[in-house]
Amino acid sequence: MPITIRRATIDDIICMQNANLHNLPENYMMKYYMYHILSWPELSFVATTTDIEVESADSSDTLDCTDSSGNTVKLDPTYVRPGEKLIGYVLAKMNDDPEQASEPANGHITSLSVMRTYRRMGLAEKLMRQALLALREVNGATYVSLHVRQSNRAALHLYRDTLKFEVLSIEKSYYQDGEDAYSMKKMLDIDQLRIANYTHGPNDTQHEEDDLKSDLLEDILKEGIDNITV
Ligand SMILES: CC(C)(COP(=O)(O)OP(=O)(O)OC[C@H]1O[C@@H](n2cnc3c(N)ncnc32)[C@H](O)[C@@H]1OP(=O)(O)O)[C@@H](O)C(=O)NCCC(=O)NCCS
Repeated sequence: MPITIRRATIDDIICMQNANLHNLPENYMMKYYMYHILSWPELSFVATTTDIEVESADSSDTLDCTDSSGNTVKLDPTYVRPGEKLIGYVLAKMNDDPEQASEPANGHITSLSVMRTYRRMGLAEKLMRQALLALREVNGATYVSLHVRQSNRAALHLYRDTLKFEVLSIEKSYYQDGEDAYSMKKMLDIDQLRIANYTHGPNDTQHEEDDLKSDLLEDILKEGIDNITV
């Protein structure tokens, strides 16, 4: 199953929005994706695969329509183009809030998700590392910030333990449903960000043992057994 991580382009945004709708309650209008890609074309990344066999079992999103010649055409928002399926993305931007204009250049991770079948393969980490390097290298960001739900154990592990973000504060009722957010920040050091300098493995840092059984139970309780793919 070949997986590619590459820069996101305007051709990817329908698939990115589709993945976002599948994976997160925080959703955005198409123009917001366009704004990211057109304003900061180097900062967002996608993971794609050509593994058609796995995907044919999961065709619930496929819609049929008829083209101008009367032929039936399959429209599938998971495919960027025939044979290339989007399985994850990171949407990143520079902070362009005019009220924070006096701050040093800094970036923001707007959204990150990986389709369920492809989780726990290191894709989110790779997407994030690409975005962090691009933020520093291309746009000169000195630090990057993001928000994460307090209950989102997977994302918290990724940001805090794997990528070494620090928790700055808790923002009360940050999300529409009233959940609090951790506001997180990471200083961007170009030497640490270079791909050749990654360290990842048992000798890296102390690793918290994941409890796959309770993760699965948590997912089942949240989403119902019929909606869980392992
Ligand atoms: C959070 C998410 C992006 C992680 O994607 P992923 O590709 O599975 O993550 P990775 O495989 O790169 O894992 C990165 C680290 O997180 C850990 N991790 C991943 N899922 C985990 C889980 N459910 N519980 C605990 N830790 C988890 C991995 O073990 C790995 O840790 P390590 O560096 O110590 O080995 C994915 O679960 C997802 O899309 N969730 C829904 C959307 C979402 O929550 N997005 C983030 C919004 S802020």
